[in-house]
Amino acid sequence: MAHHHHGNHPTDRQAGHHHHDPTDIDWSEMAPHLEAQAELFTPLYEHALAWLAKRQTEPGLIVDAGSGPGVVACLLADTFPGARVVAVDASEPLLERARAHAERLGVADRFSILAGELPGVLDDLEYPADLVWAGRSLHHLGDQRAALAAFAARLTHGGTLALQEGGLSARFLPRDLGFGRPGLQARIDVLEEERFAAMRADLPGSVAETEDWPALLTAAGLRPSGTRTFLLDLPAPTTDRARAYIADYLTRTRDGLADRLDADDRATLDRLLDPDDKASVHHRPDVFLLAAQTVYTAVRTK
Ligand SMILES: C[S@@+](CC[C@H](N)C(=O)[O-])C[C@H]1O[C@@H](n2cnc3c(N)ncnc32)[C@H](O)[C@@H]1O
Repeated sequence: MAHHHHGNHPTDRQAGHHHHDPTDIDWSEMAPHLEAQAELFTPLYEHALAWLAKRQTEPGLIVDAGSGPGVVACLLADTFPGARVVAVDASEPLLERARAHAERLGVADRFSILAGELPGVLDDLEYPADLVWAGRSLHHLGDQRAALAAFAARLTHGGTLALQEGGLSARFLPRDLGFGRPGLQARIDVLEEERFAAMRADLPGSVAETEDWPALLTAAGLRPSGTRTFLLDLPAPTTDRARAYIADYLTRTRDGLADRLDADDRATLDRLLDPDDKASVHHRPDVFLLAAQTVYTAVRTK
């Protein structure tokens, strides 16, 4: 099952795709993209984790549920120097990256990995967690309500579940690019919404759910304790790293959605991705990165 998970979100919807199934993600193929993304978004995560740290006592055990390549799991280890961190994911290649990352950052002595399908794999944890972080992973699980209940059941009394879901689609180009029809990103977003819906409908045991996260956290027996949205704001002229990420994102868009974009938008994407074109994202001065991601917290009180 490790290869049968699915893409999502403003930034990770651009999933790797198998030609037999446009919504199927090969997570290990996604590794470089997920890692580059998390590294680029590090300032956003640092703000989110500082906000989390202010509002809770030092955790002993942290579980990163759906850690992927572990960039955020390592930031959790940095933010909470007294804690052990367990990175949990169905993709072993991603967990190997997480382990290597922890070694590079010198936190390997209090970092471990656990491979398996969420939420069931959490039964293999030896101890309850003081903090469970689920960063854009819940929406890859068929039954989100049941998964939240399982996450909640793994918390200590007084422990916190932090859910990163939603926010806003990232923006990185002006509405009018100087060529093509204005509003390209808005049209891409519409297609991504459709792909996201197909991805969710296709998950094993998929259950439709109103995405009212505080209500779902309450239904899981937790007490919602806060919601906050964090910005990543890299204004133009942006960094080379942001440009590379945007080029990668648009390449995935062109590969994954091309047949659903009209000819004009396809031609626009080709120009935006042509390294020899001064108006491409590789060179144009007006490229920026503006993203917003929301974190919901809830506490186990009983
Ligand atoms: C969008 S990525 C997010 C990774 C990381 N939390 C981050 O914010 O960068 C979703 C992650 O969930 C994992 N995942 C998806 N479905 C899963 C499942 N059923 N069990 C365990 N992990 C799963 C994927 O392997 C992937 O690493």
